[in-house]
Amino acid sequence: MTIRFIALIAFFFLTSTHVLAVIAPIKINSPDNALTIEFFIEQGKANYRLLHQNQALLTPSSLGFIFAEQPALLGDFVILASNKSSVNNVWQRQWGESKLVHNHYRELTVSLQERTNLKRQLSIVFRLYNDGVGVRYLLPAQPHLQSFAITSEETEFSLNGQHTLWSTPANYDSYEAEYRRSKLSDVNAVNTPITLKSEQGLYLSIHEAALTNYAGMTLIKKAQNPYQFTSDLVPWPDGIKVKGQTPFKTPWRTIQVAESAAELITSDLIVNLNEPNVIEDTSWIKPMKYLGIWWGMHMREYTWQAGPKHGATTENAKNYIDFAKKHGIEGLLVEGWNQGWETWHSGLNIQDFTKAYDDFDLVEVAAYGAKNNVALIGHHETGGNIPSYEKQMDVAFKLYSDVGVHAIKTGYAGKMIPAGVYHHGQEMVNHYRKVVELAAKHQIMVNAHEPIKPTGIRRTYPNMMTREGGKGMEWNGWSAGNSPEHTVTLPFTRLLAGPMDYTPGIFNIEFDRQKQYRVHSTLARQLAMYVVLYSPLQMAADMIENYQAKPAFEFIEKVPTTWDETKVLTGEIGDYISIARRSGQQWFIGSMTDEQPRLLNIKLDFLAENIAYIARVFSDANKTSYHDNPTDIDIESYLVKKDDELAIAMTGSGGQALYLTPLTISNGDLPLITEQNQRALAKMKIYQRLRQYGAVKRIKHLAVNKKIQYFTDYDKAYRAGGESALVDGIVGGADYKTFWQGYRKNNLNVVIDLGEQQLLSSVEIGFLQSVLHSILLPSKVNFSLANDNEAYRSIGELHFNSVESMPDFQQKQFKVRFDKQSARFIKITAKNVSELPDWHIRAGQESFIFADEVIVH
Ligand code: NOJ
Ligand code: CA
Repeated sequence: MTIRFIALIAFFFLTSTHVLAVIAPIKINSPDNALTIEFFIEQGKANYRLLHQNQALLTPSSLGFIFAEQPALLGDFVILASNKSSVNNVWQRQWGESKLVHNHYRELTVSLQERTNLKRQLSIVFRLYNDGVGVRYLLPAQPHLQSFAITSEETEFSLNGQHTLWSTPANYDSYEAEYRRSKLSDVNAVNTPITLKSEQGLYLSIHEAALTNYAGMTLIKKAQNPYQFTSDLVPWPDGIKVKGQTPFKTPWRTIQVAESAAELITSDLIVNLNEPNVIEDTSWIKPMKYLGIWWGMHMREYTWQAGPKHGATTENAKNYIDFAKKHGIEGLLVEGWNQGWETWHSGLNIQDFTKAYDDFDLVEVAAYGAKNNVALIGHHETGGNIPSYEKQMDVAFKLYSDVGVHAIKTGYAGKMIPAGVYHHGQEMVNHYRKVVELAAKHQIMVNAHEPIKPTGIRRTYPNMMTREGGKGMEWNGWSAGNSPEHTVTLPFTRLLAGPMDYTPGIFNIEFDRQKQYRVHSTLARQLAMYVVLYSPLQMAADMIENYQAKPAFEFIEKVPTTWDETKVLTGEIGDYISIARRSGQQWFIGSMTDEQPRLLNIKLDFLAENIAYIARVFSDANKTSYHDNPTDIDIESYLVKKDDELAIAMTGSGGQALYLTPLTISNGDLPLITEQNQRALAKMKIYQRLRQYGAVKRIKHLAVNKKIQYFTDYDKAYRAGGESALVDGIVGGADYKTFWQGYRKNNLNVVIDLGEQQLLSSVEIGFLQSVLHSILLPSKVNFSLANDNEAYRSIGELHFNSVESMPDFQQKQFKVRFDKQSARFIKITAKNVSELPDWHIRAGQESFIFADEVIVH
């Protein structure tokens, strides 16, 4: 028998007796044929695969659900029908990163039925675009699947190998953490969106679109495969993930695919997968810049609640309105105007959204604003007390619309009431939506803080303008703050999901030298954020006194909040970015770098033919230094044409902002941009020599680079400089993600082997405390010594409690001194607090300890 003949028999055997074995896949391609989705049934299970130029991006990944009180819908499937279709159109958005959105996809719907059992049905829809894919489930109305309770959605994302991953840890209540770069295999559970770079250099982002009446999705590693994520939905207090009734459709699970990091940013996949606008009259929806009685509270200059330092007074609001009018800023947010702030974070959080404090006259302020063309932006801080807010919502919105307020900021800063409800579960997803719908009814735009993540709902409800849902500027106000890397990571991660109210524009950068609270950026970089970090409601976040007589404010006055076109000129995740956006005939370009000084050379070939432009350039000056001279800025004008190049010199944590206006009257006096380019080269030489963010101390001691043995694992996400970080002679700087080793559940338990007996007189270890990052000091630290074949003798034990009263970012050195003793091995154990205490906003969740440098003398 020939081999071919055996194969033929085997084939017949398989197809005739094992109907449930592999059935030939059903395929669709993206319109440009670069991406392919394959759907197939294997051993009864529904599977999909995603390919790029015929190379697998996702290896077989299965789909299905587990329910409470009825069998899982995971296997035993047969295909009832499959349908292909395609759509190619263009729609216009009222505001956003570009005017026109191309909606071009091929769709495949596969209808499945269980072969035996209850014959329940499930359909899976794939929508394949040139820039990625959306996958969703449909549960049709059917006798054996009416009301249901999902205990697990089992959607797999099996990546085809090791990737570089940018992610934040899975958290059911908050997205406010810095994205961390790691290997895909090193991370266990994440929030979405995540961004990945494959070994072949392709960029991917996994997220979801049209999150409606469903729980938010996190991703978790379930199987042995370190490259495979499975969806993990945020639960209700009773553990159920989603409660629903057929017919039912889930949000889309999305995978964006791009050949460069820059290309990810201009993908419209997320909005395209949402339903078109449902609001008929949208004339009241207007993107704008706004000031706020806000940073003053974060600076502890003002209070939210009434009292001698109350920020929201009628008088203060009028001053802000006067300033806004003078500078053409369209809006003013006032926080702390209403009664009840005394109860914030008291566990009660009972605010009255219809009663102003005595020193704030809502009607008068709104009218004064209207007279001066400055829109008042309302504020509702629920503190997490949803029952109380839902009772007041309708009247509270009506009160605002009655006085002519068309925008509000909402807040959910606090533990949810009732206890056990998470910010990102189905109940809250529905609450956030209810707010958007009610706001639309009252013609009010929404800017939500502590929100559910963006999933493109802004297409359907264009009054859902912007939201926080990420680590924003405020963290600089009262903690170690945001690293330079953070704001050049956000455009490639969090912002792929939608606009962010980051609140840029802090001019008083080093506001608290004593506590070392500050913004980790130069002034030019603050301006660049207006272009780079898109938000249709864009804040000028500082207090107005810090803007008085500051020439750099010109850029904030000029920069629009909605665009005709966006071009990402260059960028790498976490390193640098340069974005150009067009409004009418004007172009605005924002460029930012991380802690490294950087020179970018940009071609301006996107400018219009045969036009000369005036470029107003706001850049880091010769002497600008992140470290001690961050506000020095060069503001200059140059002549620019389409065939010019632009050299952008940025100091560490620096940036550049510029805008280009067509030249109408000839202005022969202006220098050419080539002159700026020369200066940029000269600046770079100076920047290379300056001290940078995260600079660290190098010290010599007996344990430097000695062997270290771990008896408990440090958290893979916080491995600092790697295995030897604890004794590498580098003492951790401000950037805890890079220099410190983090321990989650396990207590720290290490032995350092000096290689031979030495005479020692002190041992110390540093710990970090950042309450806001869930990093607490250990409760107990023990030091012991030993020689070969000896039992350990304790040389000291230190106890520490009462973390509550400490300022946020504190480094604490635990040290024992003793009379000289001979030892080869040094053992250090530290006990973790393990669960965050009751007073912590994330009470009950795991805490970290962060350690760095065991110093031995
Ligand atoms: C947290 C928000 O992010 C911040 O902007 C606001 O000032 C406070 N909550 C108070 O509502
Ligand atoms: Ca970097």
